[in-house]
Amino acid sequence: MGQLLNTASLAVNAALQTRTAELESLEISARVAREALDLSEFVTRRKRGHTHIVTQATQRLEDVFIGLGFQIAEGPEVETDFYNFEALNMPKSHPARSEFDTMFLEYGEPNSVLLRTHTSPVQIRVMQTWPPPIYAIMPGRVFRRDTPDATHMPVFHQIEGLVIDRGITFAHLAGTIEAFTKAFFGSDFTSRLRPSFFPFTEPSAEFDIRRADGEWIELGGCGMVHPNVLISGGIDPEEFSGFAFGFGIDRMAKERHNVEDIREMYTNDLRFLRQF
Ligand code: PHE
Repeated sequence: MGQLLNTASLAVNAALQTRTAELESLEISARVAREALDLSEFVTRRKRGHTHIVTQATQRLEDVFIGLGFQIAEGPEVETDFYNFEALNMPKSHPARSEFDTMFLEYGEPNSVLLRTHTSPVQIRVMQTWPPPIYAIMPGRVFRRDTPDATHMPVFHQIEGLVIDRGITFAHLAGTIEAFTKAFFGSDFTSRLRPSFFPFTEPSAEFDIRRADGEWIELGGCGMVHPNVLISGGIDPEEFSGFAFGFGIDRMAKERHNVEDIREMYTNDLRFLRQF
């Protein structure tokens, strides 16, 4: 009887051990499946965005001017009448003011605070803070009350240049414009200056660049900084002279990429943006 009981007990224990092991291994596989991490690598090319063509143009312009020894400065987009007009030799009632279709803010005295109509006010801010010699470029967004069309937007971008040093002449201005044109557009481009008028420069010129196909494109304005502007910036016109220029960045991006209509650049249509 004892022998029988022993055999039975051994058989039951053996069965119990087998089943326990089975259940344990099931539980381990379930847990491994539950906690598994997918470490597979993506081999397809990831799609990233990229900078806008106006940003690309701004960065290339900055690179070219930094190469020519310029530093970058920035100023506020909301300006006062003083910096946008008055300090730039355009006192109240100056007729040139009407050429800038200004957007004013309802802030302070009527018509005293505005969205800057050009980057030229940054010239004054730079002169007031940096001791000469000054070799600076000032890129930024500007605003004018314009109806959008193929070549105009009410918000666009300009880059301003300012050089103040001893003995600066118009020849330095013309040489800088030409060096820039070749560095930015390529050696098959040239530039020309045409007499013009700006209240803040004297003499003033308009500058154009000539494409390889012979077509002239108007790019911006420039000239020798007017003595009144130097005085507004706290610089002695007897000791220092300088030149300034300003041109539209959007137009350059448009020319470079053969964009037909400047409005296309601001509709955020990915089919358009992905091309560049
Ligand atoms: N601020 C002028 C404009 O917006 C351009 C300019 C800049 C002209 C500097 C002369 C010197 O039209």
